[in-house]
Amino acid sequence: MTASKLNDPLTLPCGALLPNRIAKAAMSEHLASPNQSPTRGLVRLYERWSAGGAGLLITGNVMIDRTHLEAVRNVAIGADSKIERFRDWAEAGTSHGNQLWMQLNHPGRQTPRHLNPDPGAPSAVEPVNLFRRAKAFGKPHAMDEAEIGQAIRSFASAAAFAKAAGFTGVQVHGAHGYLVSQFLSPLTNQRSDRWGGSLENRARFARTVLGEIRKAVGDEFPIAIKLNSADFQRGGFTEEESMRVLGMLQEDGIDLVEVSGGSYEARVMLDKVENKREAFFLEYAKKARFEVDIPMMVTGGFRARSIMEDALAEGALDVVGMARPFTNDPSVARDLLDGRTERAADPPVMPGLGRLGGTFEAMMSVAQMGLMARGKSPTLRFGGLSAVLSALYQESADLFKPKRS
Ligand SMILES: Cc1cc2nc3c(=O)[nH]c(=O)nc-3n(C[C@H](O)[C@H](O)[C@H](O)COP(=O)(O)O)c2cc1C
Repeated sequence: MTASKLNDPLTLPCGALLPNRIAKAAMSEHLASPNQSPTRGLVRLYERWSAGGAGLLITGNVMIDRTHLEAVRNVAIGADSKIERFRDWAEAGTSHGNQLWMQLNHPGRQTPRHLNPDPGAPSAVEPVNLFRRAKAFGKPHAMDEAEIGQAIRSFASAAAFAKAAGFTGVQVHGAHGYLVSQFLSPLTNQRSDRWGGSLENRARFARTVLGEIRKAVGDEFPIAIKLNSADFQRGGFTEEESMRVLGMLQEDGIDLVEVSGGSYEARVMLDKVENKREAFFLEYAKKARFEVDIPMMVTGGFRARSIMEDALAEGALDVVGMARPFTNDPSVARDLLDGRTERAADPPVMPGLGRLGGTFEAMMSVAQMGLMARGKSPTLRFGGLSAVLSALYQESADLFKPKRS
């Protein structure tokens, strides 16, 4: 029997080494303290995940500016952030020799109204409201040059902070409808200055952010981006445009691109997992291989070990990304790497509620992370209403809580 390709190490362009090909993709943990610092629970969760064998752990999105949150319990970095808490988090998350990258994000317009009634975005285009709840999101204003410059500087200083705290790399969240992808999409970016219009102009924000981060962290520190293969919305960022952005990233230099897709308005990234649609962004990655030579991670729907192995063997990707199964079993990577399991499992969903789809499943994952943070077993039984309420509370606290001071 040949050794599993999942166990092969990977050297990135900056020289850093991933010990194997399985990565835990970012999942917002909703485990920050009221002042947006990492909590002990978050540290405990990452200790467990580091022991679980994945070569790369990517944190849930960390906001680069405390005044721009996407959820009440986001970790965020500000000028007065205490680095010690972040050091504890980084130490726990790298305790077993894996890479730990902080995902950096700015929500732009995709932020609950009660957290930010006047968010900045490339253009004043109002989002379609989540859960059809009236006015969940505020109407954004178009960012001016000063705000754009500030956001770019905040990305760079947050990356330097992550490095100083002991994280071994950073990933810019350029997918799922947040600020970077708002700049990329012609639906949300209707500017006529150098930040909008042509694809070159729409990509300028992402490229400038990545360039400034490189200056802040040096040449040997991994920098990655999560990019939509497409928005899956009419008139939005297309697959063809996404491929052209890959070309630009190759020109600039990037260590890893993670392929995903969708936004709050078209939540394809959380689509139900079905065998024939396993790894829904794999086809895109295969095409991208003909266009660019960039280390590529694909996330979304990977569950069967054989499919992961085949994708690696045919060179469709370099790193297999997986999210929800890590909330069902923190050691799922080790079991796949050692060949002890053929298929990663998602967290259980209460009978009858599965039809609510990806959003509801995401809440289950949040509840499971909450349990692991408290040192408990991640496998909820979902016997009663309390489990549902706890999950709903943890992810949706934003929607139901009164306005923050
Ligand atoms: C609870 C939850 C939170 C998530 N938070 C983030 C996030 O902070 N940043 C991000 O890029 N993707 C986030 N995602 C998307 C995942 O990284 C991933 O793209 C998606 O779950 C599909 O992968 P999977 O089928 O292996 O779960 C989140 C997903 C879930 C379930």
